[in-house]
Amino acid sequence: MRLGIFGGANEPQVQAVAQVARAMGAEPVVVDAFALQNGEPISNLDGELIYRGQSLSDVKAFYLRSIPPPYLPYFEKDGELRLYAEWHTQYMQSRERSVFYLAWLQGLIRRGLKVVNPPHMAMPLQYKPYQMQVLRELGAEVPRTLISNDPAAVRAFARDVREVIFKPLTGGADAQLLGEAALTRLDALRASPVIFQERVRGDDVRVTLVGGEVVSCVIIDTGSNTNVDFRSHPGYSKGQTTYRELELPAPVAALCRESARACGLSLCGIDLKRAGDRFVFLELNASPIYLEIERKTGHRISEHLVRTLMAA
Ligand SMILES: Nc1ncnc2c1ncn2[C@@H]1O[C@H](COP(=O)(O)OP(=O)(O)O)[C@@H](O)[C@H]1O
Ligand SMILES: [Mg+2]
Repeated sequence: MRLGIFGGANEPQVQAVAQVARAMGAEPVVVDAFALQNGEPISNLDGELIYRGQSLSDVKAFYLRSIPPPYLPYFEKDGELRLYAEWHTQYMQSRERSVFYLAWLQGLIRRGLKVVNPPHMAMPLQYKPYQMQVLRELGAEVPRTLISNDPAAVRAFARDVREVIFKPLTGGADAQLLGEAALTRLDALRASPVIFQERVRGDDVRVTLVGGEVVSCVIIDTGSNTNVDFRSHPGYSKGQTTYRELELPAPVAALCRESARACGLSLCGIDLKRAGDRFVFLELNASPIYLEIERKTGHRISEHLVRTLMAA
C-alpha cells in the first residue's frame, strides 16, 4: 500500500514517518513540499498529479506535514530587513505554488482520500481565536482572552487581569509578559490585532492525539519556569528539554478528544497549562512537531499516525 507524505523531504519528522511506514509494510511516497520552489517538474494533468515522472493516483492516504505559505523574499542589511527588487513577482509565484498544492490536496479529499490533516483546517495559517471559541463552547477552561487592535481595550483588560501575556494570532513569536514597556507601545497595535491573555502559571503540557485518541501526554521541562514561553528558555533550543509522562484526568482527556474532533484534526498537538488539578487549554496544533517527544519518551506517535493512514 502506498502512503503519501507531503512535507519538506529533509525534515526529520517526514523522514521518520517514512521509515516507520516502511517498517510497517507500507510504501511511503514523499512529495517534497519544496519541489516547485526547487524547480522540479511537477504537473497536475486533468486532475492527476505527476511527480518525478510518476502518477500518484494509487496513493491511498496522505500525511500533510506542511505547505510552504506565500512569502515575501527579504534579506537583512545594516540591521534592516529589505525586499529583493523582484519581490512582487516572487511573492506572486510563491502564492501560485501554495495554491497548486492546496487545491490538489483539497481535491484528493473530495475524491475520498484521507489527508491528515485536511489543509483547510490547518494550512498555512493557524486559527487560535476559533479554537478558543470551540474550547469555550465545549466547557474547557481557557485563559481570559482579549483579541484586539484597540489600545484602550487592552488597557482596560490589563487593569482587570493581574498578569497579562501577549502573543500573535498565528504563532511565529514567543508569548511575552505585558509590562510597562509594551504598554507604552500600544499604538503600534492599530495595524493588526494581537492576543492578550491572562497569564496562567504552571507546568507546560503537550497532549498528542492521533485518530481521535490521546497517544502521548507529557509535561515539558526546560529546567526553569521563569520565562513565560517555555521556548524562550536557552535549554529548549539546545535540545535539553525533558518530558515527564502525565496521566490526564478522564474529563480533560475527553475535552482533548472533543476539541480535536470539533476542529477537524485527526492528528493534533494540544498545549495546556497545568496548575494542580487545573488544566487550562491554550491551543490545538494542526501539524504538531512531535519527534523529540517520541524519541525521548518512546511514545509511538509515528506508528499511530501510520496505522491511522493505513486504515483509510
Ligand atoms: N495565557 C498564557 N499563560 C501562560 N503561558 C502562556 C499563555 N499563552 C501562551 N503561553 C506560553 O507560551 C507558549 C506558546 O503559546 P501558544 O498559545 O502555544 O502559541 P504558539 O505555540 O502557537 O506560539 C505556551 O506553550 C506557554 O508556554
Ligand atoms: Mg503552542
